Amino acid sequence: MLLKNGRIIENGNLVQKDVLISGDKIAKIEKDIKNVNVKMFDLNGKLVIPGAVDVHVHLREPGFSEKETYLTGTSAAVKGGVTTLMAMPNTNPVPDSKDVLLMIHEKYVSQALAKVFLYGAVTMGQKGKSLANFREMKPYIKALTDDGICISDLGLLKEAMYEAKKEDLIICSHAEAKEYGLGAESEVRAVERELNLVAETGCKYHFCHLSTSEAVDLVRLSKTSKLDVTCEVAPHHIFLCQNNMQYNPNFKMSPALRSHGDMRRTLQGLISGVIDMLATDHAPHTEKEKSLPMDKAPNGVIGLETLIPLAYTGLVRTGKLTFEKMMDVLTFNAAKRFNLPHGKVEVGGLADLAVLDIDALHVYTYDEILSKGKNSPFIGTEMFGMNKLTTLNGNVVFNEI
Ligand code: DOR
Ligand code: ZN
Ligand code: ZN
Repeated sequence: MLLKNGRIIENGNLVQKDVLISGDKIAKIEKDIKNVNVKMFDLNGKLVIPGAVDVHVHLREPGFSEKETYLTGTSAAVKGGVTTLMAMPNTNPVPDSKDVLLMIHEKYVSQALAKVFLYGAVTMGQKGKSLANFREMKPYIKALTDDGICISDLGLLKEAMYEAKKEDLIICSHAEAKEYGLGAESEVRAVERELNLVAETGCKYHFCHLSTSEAVDLVRLSKTSKLDVTCEVAPHHIFLCQNNMQYNPNFKMSPALRSHGDMRRTLQGLISGVIDMLATDHAPHTEKEKSLPMDKAPNGVIGLETLIPLAYTGLVRTGKLTFEKMMDVLTFNAAKRFNLPHGKVEVGGLADLAVLDIDALHVYTYDEILSKGKNSPFIGTEMFGMNKLTTLNGNVVFNEI
């Protein structure tokens, strides 16, 4: 297939180039590729980038297909230009054994439109009582997490860290010590105590969805003291804060929206590189659940379809990040940390690509959402850089050109 008249990033500049894809790889990148007898897409100046790698997605299946399915979740992913994702384990059954992992793996291979990799649970049933068998799960997972639940038994967490270290697996933490409430302090205290255990055990560690300035400071310090720690931030925590909070469950998630200062400092953490990657925490719920009163509605917001345009609009258009750095936080840093396949816009690069319309202003609407969950706080938000075409292994999996 030939992507004609698009643009790519070359040494920091946008340059017009044609991209020829052959099989699952990019075969040629040149100014004007002619006389090739293949399917052609006229990109008309759109930007070709590697598809995003999102390490934090709640796909909901098995067990909660009323919220999302492998098909609807990955349809939302490829619409948004996300080509690889990691699926969270708060499903039913919980992937805490080889058998459950094999069952889930089989389902997504036949039903998913994007590349899906799995987390294994840290504790059996995510109950925080006894450890799952990491060695048995290792061939089928990319990392371990009990996301949604913070492991509060620090003895057990320490044991998990030693076990994970033996298997060379990363533990990913939803750091929220509920004994300190649901405010900023709950995150800061959890990150603090977990970093102490990481220092003691030498385990590879990753913090999910950091939302507070002090937690970012703690991670910065841990990196300077050479702990093997990485972290992510969600778009809603760098682009929204309590001041944007509406009395609407689409603004309710865990961790919650924080202060304006926290928003600015987490954004700064991403810009400075202390925060390694953007990840959506895509957490679909049914409209029925999300129309309950604020205090009854479940936590979570969707994010797959707005990840890239929010990043482009809020980070690159505003001059906060270069295109290269945007691709680092959307794709390369996550792929490197979790050893995931990803596209690359160069000859020989894997053709897992997204094609963005960076010139057109788009207003994100309820009607366009492909996820089963419609719970986005960004409905009505203006954004540039919507994805228009997605290729996976050189095949078109989303096309709105
Ligand atoms: O907002 C959230 N939603 N935070 C979590 O930790 C869990 C997630 C979910 O599964 O809905
Ligand atoms: Zn979480
Ligand atoms: Zn989550």
